[in-house]
Formats: sequence, structure tokens, C-alpha cells
Amino acid sequence: MKRLARKSILEIKPYKPGKPIEEVKRELGLREIIKLASNENTLGPSSRTIKALRDYLPKIYLYPEDSCFYLKKELAKRLKVKMENLIMGNGSDEIMELIPKTFLNPGEEVIYGHPSFLIYEIVTKIMGGKPVPISLKDYTYDLKGIVMAITRKTKIIFVCNPNNPTGTMVSEEEIRAFLKRVPERIIVVLDEAYKDYVERRDFPNSIGLLKEYKNIIILRTFAKIYGLAGLRIGYGIAREEVIDLLSKVRLPFNVNSLAQAAALASLKDKEQVKKTRRMNREGKRFLYAAFESLGLEYIPTQTNFILINLSPACSGTRRSGEKICRELLIKGIIIREMSAWGLNNYIRVTIGREEENKKFIQALRKALEVMR
Ligand SMILES: Cc1ncc(COP(=O)(O)O)c(C=O)c1O
Repeated sequence: MKRLARKSILEIKPYKPGKPIEEVKRELGLREIIKLASNENTLGPSSRTIKALRDYLPKIYLYPEDSCFYLKKELAKRLKVKMENLIMGNGSDEIMELIPKTFLNPGEEVIYGHPSFLIYEIVTKIMGGKPVPISLKDYTYDLKGIVMAITRKTKIIFVCNPNNPTGTMVSEEEIRAFLKRVPERIIVVLDEAYKDYVERRDFPNSIGLLKEYKNIIILRTFAKIYGLAGLRIGYGIAREEVIDLLSKVRLPFNVNSLAQAAALASLKDKEQVKKTRRMNREGKRFLYAAFESLGLEYIPTQTNFILINLSPACSGTRRSGEKICRELLIKGIIIREMSAWGLNNYIRVTIGREEENKKFIQALRKALEVMR
């Protein structure tokens, strides 16, 4: 059957998400599992959001509102854009896929950083485009390197800001200097899935940039700080003419009604967002100190996850992330090994609740001792 498939599809390495809790329970017969592998908000959705979901349940026999009217209206008000500047997706992943479907011709090039979010490569290949990964510099998007890689065939550039899996960001000044050098015939996607966790003050005001640059698409999600990963809902912000084009390839009813109701309720719950930010700041501080005491190198993060180098040059060791993750899994703690990104000596952990962070560190300390 492989001969029937398009060549570009055969080249795709399927995305392997973090192991689900239920799968680990089944496989290892464990009852208590901590999952810190997929950068979810382990505080979960607010009680207000859960109530909105319950209230909506009797109406799920109806198709969802295709236009996501109320959610778009609220978002537009908060973001100070028009509803026509918004497109909702079944996760921001869906919009990531709509972009090449709309703009990319076979053979055209898509540039993004490496290591970065793995979906950029997949959506490029789905459309028969050519992926052009550009190595990060000091774990950070190398925007100058990306500009140098632009050719006549470049059509899309993905900038993951802050970047997954390194947690680093590029500033307003850096993005402005970059955009000045990118021709307008290239779509620049600013993937801001983790924006709400950023602590640095110089994070770009990307919506402000939309006024100056017509080739930008900003991606955001309800999966992270709003705690709605399981419902799959994200959105894109762009000029109206760009949204109109993307909307041509969006299938009807792509965002389910429960996701719409929950996203709307969660937007109104400022307390939960504040609580999550506080938890993240405190968790970050605790984890940094713990990594230092364990002699591990970490990359300072602007997100709700941390990339850890298990084998810093000074340690003289070579520890495999995969082995450490296996040791932790046996103890019921799921984190991410990084071989899919080519980072075999690294692990990535989501910053969780205080007790989750403590249990993770306890288990990590033991796993490092076992592997000594
Ligand atoms: C950088 C980045 N963008 C987008 C997403 C996907 O978000 P969504 O769940 O809205 O599809 C993720 C999820 O891990 C991510 O890390």
C-alpha cells in the first residue's frame, strides 16, 4: 500500500506525544501517576470552567456554533482586535496545519528553528514542502541565521516564542529587526503557546506588530495556562485577508461546543490564571535549586517546562535521558525524553504543583544514584 501514498507522506516521522496517564496505569499496574510530560497545567481548569461545561452538556446533541461567535467576541475585546482577525482551531495545531494548506506549494521551503516544536516539520511534509531547520544559538531561535537561510523558494517561517523544548524567547527588539529583513511574500508564524508564562518584560507585543506587517500569523492556545488541553482549542490572530484565506480550508464545526463554552468561561476566570502563574514561578525556583544541588545544568525558562542537560561538560558523565525517564516511569512519574529532538542526554519536565515537583525531584535523585 505504501506505493499508493504520496512520497512526502512516507517521509513523515509520526509525532510521539507524552505517555498518557491511563496507559502507564495499565502497563505498570500503578495507581498513582504524576504526568509532567506535555506541559499541561496540572492545576486543571477552574471550577467556573467546569460549571460551564456541566451547564452545556444537555446541548451536545446540537452541532457547535461554526463561527465560535461568543468566544471570538470576548477574545476580540480582550485582545483589542476585530472578530475578523481571529480564527479558532481544534488546538492551535490545527491552525498550524491550515497555514501550509493555504499557502504552501509543493517544493516550497519552510524555515524553523531546531530543536523546536516537531509539528512544524510534519505540517510542512504533509503539503510536500521542504523543511529547512536552522540550529538554535545558545538554545535560542537564531533569527539572523533564519534570515540568511531565506531563498526564493521560502514561503513560511515558524518562530516558536517562547521555544519548545528549550523555554527561551526572542525579544520585541529582535523580532522587529528580523521582520524588517523578511520579504512580505513570506508568512511569519509566531507560535506563542506559552506566552502567558513569560516573565521577561521585553516579550514582543505581536498584536501591535500586526498593524505594521501584513504577513504575520500569531498562534495561541487554551491548552496551556487555561488548562484545557483535553478539549483541543486554540486560535490564530492575523490580518482579515489572511484569516479569510485560512477560513477557506477550515472544515465546518472544527471546534466542538464544549471547548467553546469552556474557553469562554476560562477567559473570564482571572484568578485561576494568576494562581497558575504564581505556582509556576514558585515551582521554577524550587526546581532550579534542586537541579543545582544535583549538579545538573538547566536552561532558564520563560515557560511552564524546563529542559535539563543530564551530562553537563563539567560532570564528565554521559547519562541517557531515555534511561532516566524509564527509571522515573517505574515510579509513576512521566516526563519527556528528548531523543526525537536529537537531545539524547536531556530530559524535559513540566513545572507542576508543589507536591508533584517534590516527588519528581525525589525520584530523579534516586534514578541518578541508580545510574551512577
Ligand atoms: C510550541 C507549541 N505550540 C503549539 C502547541 C499545541 O497547542 P494545542 O494544544 O493548542 O494544539 C504546543 C503543545 O505542546 C506547543 O508546545
